[in-house]
Amino acid sequence: MTIESNQSIIDLFKNANQEQIFKYFDELNLDEQNSLIKQLSKIENPSNLIKTVAKAIKYSQQNSEENDIFTQLPNEQTASTLDLDDEVLLNWSNLGFEAISKGEVAILLMAGGQGTRLGSSDPKGCFNINLPSSKSLFEIQAEKIIKIEKLTQSKYNLSTKPEIMWYIMTSGPTRESTEKFFKLNNYFNLNSKQIKFFNQGTLPCFNLSGDKILLNSKNSICESPDGNGGLYKALLENKIIDDLNSKKIKHIHMYCVDNSLVKVADPIFLGFAIDKKFDLATKVVRKRDSSESVGLIVLNDKLKRPCVIEYSEISKELSEKIDPKDSSLLFLRAANIVNHYYSVDLLTKMIPKWIKSQEFLPFHIAKKKIPCINLKTNQFQKPTEPNGIKLEQFIFDVFPSIELSKFGCLEVDRNEEFSPLKNADGAKNDTPTTCKLHYLKRGTKWIIENGGILENKDDLIEVMPLTSYSGEGLEFVKGQKFKNGDII
Ligand code: UTP
Repeated sequence: MTIESNQSIIDLFKNANQEQIFKYFDELNLDEQNSLIKQLSKIENPSNLIKTVAKAIKYSQQNSEENDIFTQLPNEQTASTLDLDDEVLLNWSNLGFEAISKGEVAILLMAGGQGTRLGSSDPKGCFNINLPSSKSLFEIQAEKIIKIEKLTQSKYNLSTKPEIMWYIMTSGPTRESTEKFFKLNNYFNLNSKQIKFFNQGTLPCFNLSGDKILLNSKNSICESPDGNGGLYKALLENKIIDDLNSKKIKHIHMYCVDNSLVKVADPIFLGFAIDKKFDLATKVVRKRDSSESVGLIVLNDKLKRPCVIEYSEISKELSEKIDPKDSSLLFLRAANIVNHYYSVDLLTKMIPKWIKSQEFLPFHIAKKKIPCINLKTNQFQKPTEPNGIKLEQFIFDVFPSIELSKFGCLEVDRNEEFSPLKNADGAKNDTPTTCKLHYLKRGTKWIIENGGILENKDDLIEVMPLTSYSGEGLEFVKGQKFKNGDII
């Protein structure tokens, strides 16, 4: 970079009142100066960015819509595996397997989050939840993929195993260690060519009033991933959409890295969406009780479009309302687990629109503890209280752009499909210990259902994904004895 171009970048930031970024500039050597300028050069218009933060702060202070516009999605858009006929489930499962056998399905994993609540220095997917097998979350997911490929191969008598593409979204903070982990583990016996890593974008972090970018060091600013809504831009900019189309992939199953019970490439979910010709579908679990802190998938009755209502937005009255059709159920109970089906046609058509303006994907603010340089003491500090703002886009903000008839919502059994790793042990929920327990309880239930015998009634058995994808193929355990810690 030339001295003139460096100066023009510095001027842009100074004009946006960001002189603090250059407080140490004259102390830096040439390489350090260039690396700071290189990082800044990625931000095209700092003044606009500051305005965006101000807008996001204002947006966060606005009251959400009146709650009475939120209601249940119509029956045509929903189903529940908890009360469906076996025949319907089989039909959907067949449709899903058929799409996999034809190479029409890809898996999309979101693994760009920083996992700050968990507090592990490695990406969440590398985390070992302490199963008897010591498998990491990535390994569990990879083995689910291999299993579903094998099930497809035997169902259709294929000479070779189909290879399902696995697109993994990482971010600046998670990319290198994620790739390293996959290499170190020989891609968990998947073909390395069926795995494609790509990065989501990053955005600067700001002070709490949102008008100053924080410094990570004397020659770098603090940055963080742009939120799970950054997925859409990342799919376009990394040419994943082109890749999907060139491979003639039609259906995507997208999920979050931290769900220890996830059914990756679930044929039933795929079949549900294929059968009903949905463009976008979401898996949900039943909200535990009215006070559970989860977002809900609902209908915005004014717009006649699907949307998510966050737990902080819903009134007490609406969250406690009972379903008039069944007094044992909450009226709004479709808890969002960020597990989606997308048609590739939808993504191809809509992503350019979604990312063009902030109309579809506005920025939200998250107040966080952001390690940064304290400009008063000139020292790097790790705050104990939130000291700054991260900007995030939310993946579900695009839901209202989907026609209601093209949106589906499938309720699944929480015990079979959802146990997220969010917090470190010691917290009440969503910890390594709760994930392990749920994982083992599910496997043990499958063993008992198939006639296996436990030495002690509280024994917990691990069923590996390569042995069973979701409880099938376990007839061989009939009459066998198992004890705590056994792995099959
Ligand atoms: P969370 O919203 O729970 O965030 O992510 P997190 O980063 O894992 O954890 P905290 O909030 O810092 O403690 C849910 C899913 O979305 C992905 C995560 O990797 C996880 O799979 N995600 C989140 C991204 O891929 N990118 C992001 O910018 C944020």
